[in-house]
Amino acid sequence: MTILDGKALSEELVDSVKDKAEKLSPTLAVILVGENPASMAYVRNKKKACERAGIEYIQHDFEATITQEDLLKKIDDINQDPNVNGLIVQLPLPDHIYVPDVIRSVDPSKDVDGFHAYNIGKMFLSPEFEDLPPATPLGIVKLLDHYDIPIRGKEVVVVGHSNIVGKPISMMMLNRDATVTTCHIHTKDLSAHTKRADILIVAVGKINLITADMVKDGVVVVDVGMNRNDDGKLCGDVDFENVSKKASYITPVPGGVGPMTVAALILNTVRATERQKASQ
Ligand code: GUN
Repeated sequence: MTILDGKALSEELVDSVKDKAEKLSPTLAVILVGENPASMAYVRNKKKACERAGIEYIQHDFEATITQEDLLKKIDDINQDPNVNGLIVQLPLPDHIYVPDVIRSVDPSKDVDGFHAYNIGKMFLSPEFEDLPPATPLGIVKLLDHYDIPIRGKEVVVVGHSNIVGKPISMMMLNRDATVTTCHIHTKDLSAHTKRADILIVAVGKINLITADMVKDGVVVVDVGMNRNDDGKLCGDVDFENVSKKASYITPVPGGVGPMTVAALILNTVRATERQKASQ
C-alpha cells in the first residue's frame, strides 16, 4: 500500500511555478465572509502557498452581515482591476447570499476556483479545454498522474455529486476514458457500487462512510472528506485504518487532497495570468 502524499506533491508543484510567477507577477485576491474556522484555515493555506510561489496575495475580509449587493459590488471592482489576475470567493457563504449569483459574477478569466459555468462548460468538452478546471478535481488528477495511476478503462466510482467536486471529477475522469459511476445520497445500494471500484473518490463529508467491507482488494482510494471527529481530530470520509489494509494507494486526511486543492489554485492562478497577458 502506498500513501498518496498530497502535501509533498503540492510543495513540488508550487515550487515548479516560481520561475513563471517571477516573470508574470500574478496577483490573487481572496474574499472571506464571516469567521468560519475551516474557511479561515483554508485561506491561511492559500496565502502560504502564494508566498511560497511568489504570487501576490490580497485578502478582503467582510462581516457575515454584508449584503449580497455589497459583495457583488466588491467582486465587480476586482473584476475591473487589471492588477488582479485571480479571484476566489471562499465558500460557504452566509445563508442570505445566493451562491450561484456570486459564482456567476466572477469574471471567468479570473475564476481560478473553476466554478463559473463558462469554465465548467469548457472542462466538460475535453481535457484540451480544461483551461481553469475546478481546483479540487484538478488536484486529484495531478495526484493520480504523479503516481502513474492509469485512468483509461478503469472503473471509477465517485461518491458525492456536488458542483465543486463530485460532478466535475466525474466528468474529468470520463474525459480520461474511465467508466464512471457517480453515487450520491439517493443511491440505493452504495456498497454494490463501491465494491466494483478500481478508483474510489469520496467527497461527501461523513466520517467513516466508507468501510473496509465496501471496497475490493487493490482499490485506489481518494478521500476528499474533511471532518472533525469527537476528539477534534481531522479525518476524511474513509475508515483509513481498515480500508488502507486493502488499498493499493490511498490519500491520508490531512495531507492528501487538501494541499492538492491549494496547489491546483496556484497552477490556475498562474495559468489565468498567462492567458490574460497573452490576450492583451
Ligand atoms: N470551500 C471548500 N472548498 C472550496 C474551494 O475549493 N474553493 C472555495 N472558494 N471555497 C471552498
